[in-house]
Amino acid sequence: MAEDPLPGVDLERPNVARVYDWYLGGTANWAVDREFGKRVLATFPAGMYCARANRAFLHRAVRHLVARGVRQFVDIGSGVPTMGNVHQVADEVAPDSRVVYIDCEPVAVAHSRILLERHGDPARHAVIQGDLREPDGIWAAVAETGVVDLAEPVALLVTAVLHIQQAGPDGEDIGPAAIAQYRELLVPGSYLVLSQITHEGLPADLAGQLHATIQLYDDNVNKHVLRSKAEFGALFGDFELLAPGVVWTASWRPEESGPNTPAVDFDDPSEAVMLAGVGRKR
Ligand SMILES: C[S@@+](CC[C@H](N)C(=O)[O-])C[C@H]1O[C@@H](n2cnc3c(N)ncnc32)[C@H](O)[C@@H]1O
Repeated sequence: MAEDPLPGVDLERPNVARVYDWYLGGTANWAVDREFGKRVLATFPAGMYCARANRAFLHRAVRHLVARGVRQFVDIGSGVPTMGNVHQVADEVAPDSRVVYIDCEPVAVAHSRILLERHGDPARHAVIQGDLREPDGIWAAVAETGVVDLAEPVALLVTAVLHIQQAGPDGEDIGPAAIAQYRELLVPGSYLVLSQITHEGLPADLAGQLHATIQLYDDNVNKHVLRSKAEFGALFGDFELLAPGVVWTASWRPEESGPNTPAVDFDDPSEAVMLAGVGRKR
């Protein structure tokens, strides 16, 4: 387990990226993160499977888009690289694909950098520290890497991020406004890949456990914003939703899993707790 703090890493409080890394079996987490993760799993034992099902959706979406000809990926809120990162999944199918990772958490950025130094190609992969809430700044920084050409179609991935409150200057959630700005920045033929936790349509026992878990996060880590299916669907604006539309992560093209896609078995797909979708800009 990681124990030496990196510059800029807050070890006073659990951190959403590092706790998620622990759920996925990674090593970029500290005692404060693991203790919080254990409290969450005591409240919501299926939480680990929801994280894995989200990761499996991400794998399938990347594989699907590569099969559609996409070769450029921008992954915002990419997290700590555990369980197969986007460039590894894309490379399985198309070794000429290009990926820029962005996260605001120093641990996520540092670990992505180490991974890319060992297993990446500087001409095709980059990682930058940046904030989803600043679309123009992110777009300029992505362009500066020279890894992707933003004048050509890209797939923008924002998975398991938008249920984390994206506080604006007045504390209001500006996640949807930021996504609307990214929809404008993307050129036609680009794709938007989203997933996030919902409070709607869950099995009754999970709904209660999720409610208690969100309270734990709100009190100890950061505030969360859950969306209904309609609110989540609205994040795609006028983009054309690929079949099967907005569905549970577990129900998005399960037949397109690859050899390294994490396998998760649910009795019912609603146990995945997160909604997912992929939209295309016309
Ligand atoms: C639950 S993880 C999801 C990781 C990955 N996208 C996935 O689906 O497996 C959420 C990530 O979003 C990042 N994040 C949250 N708010 C962000 C922001 N405003 N800008 C950039 N990254 C952000 C966190 O640091 C964390 O790494």
